Amino acid sequence: MSEILCRDLVRIFATDGVEVQALQGLNLTVEQGELVAVVGASGSGKSTLLNILSGLDTPTGGSAVVAGTDLLTMGGRDRVRYQRHTVGFVWQQTSRNLLPYLTAAENVGLPLELAGAGTRGERAARVAELLELLDVVDVAERRPAQMSGGQQQRVAIAVAVANAPRVLLADEPTGELDEATSVEVLDALRSVNHATGVTTLVVTHDPAVSEHVARTVQIRDGRTSTEVLRRTEVDEHGAERHVAEEFAVLDRVGRLQLPPDFVEALDLRDRVRLALEPDHVQVRPDRKESS
Ligand SMILES: Nc1ncnc2c1ncn2[C@@H]1O[C@H](COP(=O)(O)OP(=O)(O)OP(=O)(O)O)[C@@H](O)[C@H]1O
Ligand SMILES: [Mg+2]
Repeated sequence: MSEILCRDLVRIFATDGVEVQALQGLNLTVEQGELVAVVGASGSGKSTLLNILSGLDTPTGGSAVVAGTDLLTMGGRDRVRYQRHTVGFVWQQTSRNLLPYLTAAENVGLPLELAGAGTRGERAARVAELLELLDVVDVAERRPAQMSGGQQQRVAIAVAVANAPRVLLADEPTGELDEATSVEVLDALRSVNHATGVTTLVVTHDPAVSEHVARTVQIRDGRTSTEVLRRTEVDEHGAERHVAEEFAVLDRVGRLQLPPDFVEALDLRDRVRLALEPDHVQVRPDRKESS
């Protein structure tokens, strides 16, 4: 079974009698061990999705199952266990991820202590291992204010994966960083994903980030609309070539969203003509001259 499985996920916020449909039937499947980037315009529903997957928020409808836990039916006690052991989270605001009065090593040790994991010596060994993995051994004894933004986010990743969660969620972890530092933090996420096999979902505005991952899903208006898969091919001369392929997401009942530039290019609106060809489907404008 997939590690993250969202089917027709809906989240409606009602404030002062006004309804906002933040998620409008979102579908997403992520396999165990995958690293997926989530991109989309401001307000498209990215944080809403991550808040649901992290157990902080409850969906209005549809289904969401993460590491075998049904997020719509989980009770209070399950929720605490889910947040402590099943998922790890990294926020955009560097200051939100770490406690300011604790050193890097103490911050990483805290979730282990809260979970009552192992002996004191075992916990210290685990902290050392995580600081090593995130390449922040040199700031182990420093407090967040004495670290760079990139170092803080790498320590934050160590905190998030301290209790060996099945899923790592990061909402714009590079949002407050410059480009070079963003790449460094993304590389850290990638090496953690690689070394521990933790399924990783990272939200980003940054096209540079999404270019570094094998799979990028795009959210538009509260739905997953397109996916880009990247792979490296080696040609007959041994040269490496990066190939990116874009796919539209087709839901269970056969709906798909056409990219806005396609819609504009042919001035498609209201309805279109469809024709089934032996190996593809045609979409044409509903106009006499073009039929
Ligand atoms: N607690 C809330 N109450 C009411 N509306 C909300 C709430 N949280 C989010 N929304 C609305 O839901 C929609 C999706 O918001 P969301 O925060 O998920 O977007 P986002 O893709 O993360 O945007 P950004 O890139 O700006 O972070 C927006 O229209 C937002 O105003
Ligand atoms: Mg957001």
